[in-house]
Amino acid sequence: MCGIVGYIGHRDAYPVVLKGLQRLEYRGYDSAGIALYDGNELKMCKTQGKVADLKEKLENTITTNGNVAIGHTRWATHGVPNDVNSHPHYSNSGDIVIIHNGIIENYDALKKELKTRGYTFESDTDTEVLVNLIEDVIINEGVKLGKAVQIALNQTVGAYAIAVYNKTKPDEIVVARLGSPLAIGVGEDEFFIASDASPFIEYTNNAIYLEDGEMAVVRRGKEVRVRKIQDDTLVDPYIQELQLNLEQIEKGGYEHFMLKEIHEQPTAIKDTYRGRMLADEGLIRMAGVDDNLERIANAKRILIVACGTSWHAGLVAEYIFEELARIPVEVEYASEFRYRNPIISEKDVIIAISQSGETADTMAAIKLAKEKGAFAFGVCNVVGSSISRETHAGAYTHAGPEIGVASTKAFTTQITVLTLMALKLAKQNGTISHTEFMTYLQEMERIPAKIEKALKGDEHIKMIADIYKDARNCLYLGRGFNFPVALEGALKLKEISYIHAEGYPAAEMKHGPIALIDEEMPVVVIATKRGHYEKVVSNIQEIKSRKGKIIAIVTEGDEEVRDLADHVIEVPETLEPLTPLLTTIPLQLLSYHIAVLLGKNVDQPRNLAKSVTVE
Ligand code: F6R
Repeated sequence: MCGIVGYIGHRDAYPVVLKGLQRLEYRGYDSAGIALYDGNELKMCKTQGKVADLKEKLENTITTNGNVAIGHTRWATHGVPNDVNSHPHYSNSGDIVIIHNGIIENYDALKKELKTRGYTFESDTDTEVLVNLIEDVIINEGVKLGKAVQIALNQTVGAYAIAVYNKTKPDEIVVARLGSPLAIGVGEDEFFIASDASPFIEYTNNAIYLEDGEMAVVRRGKEVRVRKIQDDTLVDPYIQELQLNLEQIEKGGYEHFMLKEIHEQPTAIKDTYRGRMLADEGLIRMAGVDDNLERIANAKRILIVACGTSWHAGLVAEYIFEELARIPVEVEYASEFRYRNPIISEKDVIIAISQSGETADTMAAIKLAKEKGAFAFGVCNVVGSSISRETHAGAYTHAGPEIGVASTKAFTTQITVLTLMALKLAKQNGTISHTEFMTYLQEMERIPAKIEKALKGDEHIKMIADIYKDARNCLYLGRGFNFPVALEGALKLKEISYIHAEGYPAAEMKHGPIALIDEEMPVVVIATKRGHYEKVVSNIQEIKSRKGKIIAIVTEGDEEVRDLADHVIEVPETLEPLTPLLTTIPLQLLSYHIAVLLGKNVDQPRNLAKSVTVE
């Protein structure tokens, strides 16, 4: 995920674009850049780091006058974050510049073709390929910029929101979107372009939100022309009046980043499997696994190291790997692993899971395992992070920046990556049939829509939150694949609401925690169909007979638990190993609403940090 901003009009473009980038920094903050046209020359400055670093560098290197500019704040997808990979990117002639949010999946094939025609590339990005493809179309087909962008985009596979500027046609910017957001702010003889409306809210209330598959030519002093990229049909642009204030827009209209990130999960999961899970072809492609398939599939044992929520994702993965790929798995707190004397052999594969990719204990655990000869695989969200660099191979989660300190979308996308990996290994080792493999792929594709459905329970969950917000303790129970979800539910509640909460395997309740149950104790039980349903129902009965208050997460249409529980929250049915992707959702919402009702700082809970770089 990246942020893009552009301006063309009568103002000084630089301060508009710079402030816009600061507002969009939540979308990505590993590098930033601006290209400015001063009426004569196209100037560019870009740097690894935050927008503040760009400001300092830019103001020391180029003059900032000019009424046209485009800028970018980056969350790296292709190529590590560094100055060269930062956007904007020039075409080979230096006439055209582009900024891009998204992924061009077939960039490699396009790049090879362009190389045969003499194009050279400075960066590792897919975006530099696209700008040269556009230039190539202009040269070969003698068309204008808008047409060239359209022809080029029709040759790409992937997702994008782009803004393209050609200094030889200085009065227009061409924009297009597919899968990534793009808004055009319409002012008096001026236009603003941005990933969301926050960069231009103080200049205009009028915005055109491009739909997927649309492009527009934004021309100084002219009306915006919108077309369909695929077939060139003209679209009547709908100019929307913005109702939002600045604060809301920065959080995409959500009250908190955490809530926004909870709601982003359907898209985040799609982004995680896009380009990797090819259900039509019956294939999973993961470069980090493909390149080391023998090594990983023949592992004697998989060791998973992580902390916090990522450790919970590791526990879910343990169940999934053992169920599907039949490889023994051990999951360790990185902090424990690094300080004992673990037995590690060269036949072990160690998987480090980390949203930030910077967690000090996880990093140390990986180094230790590598020293002892294990193959190290990273599952990180932050591209180019220390853990992703330290591991031999890996797979990014592509969840986009997670700003809320309480991890939500990182968890479900970690599970998604690990499920794909387990399925791939299962196929390689023949531990599941082709039919089963295909059933999983098809069901994975349904998960985002099922999460959307689970999110619709929000109001009902808020009502339950209101009833239990003053509880002093809370117990979370689950079995099998949903035992780690119970741990994660309890962690979410304690970290943002400061209510003491414990997660347990449901059957363990009898071995101690049952003593805590009385009419004051809310017990959240994950009781989805399949798996150990009847056994969980027995546990619910045990709680009920001790007057505990039961909040049950059940499969849609379940009547049996509804009769026993005080409250039920439904999630759609899915294959048992995939249930954590759905049962997690109501638990995130429950914690969120309790914390909000208690007036806590949801996005920045006390004593916590997003990235724990000290042990
Ligand atoms: C909880 C949370 C933390 C992190 C943990 C590991 O909501 O966010 O428990 O999961 O600090 O962080 P990463 O995944 O960055 O290694």
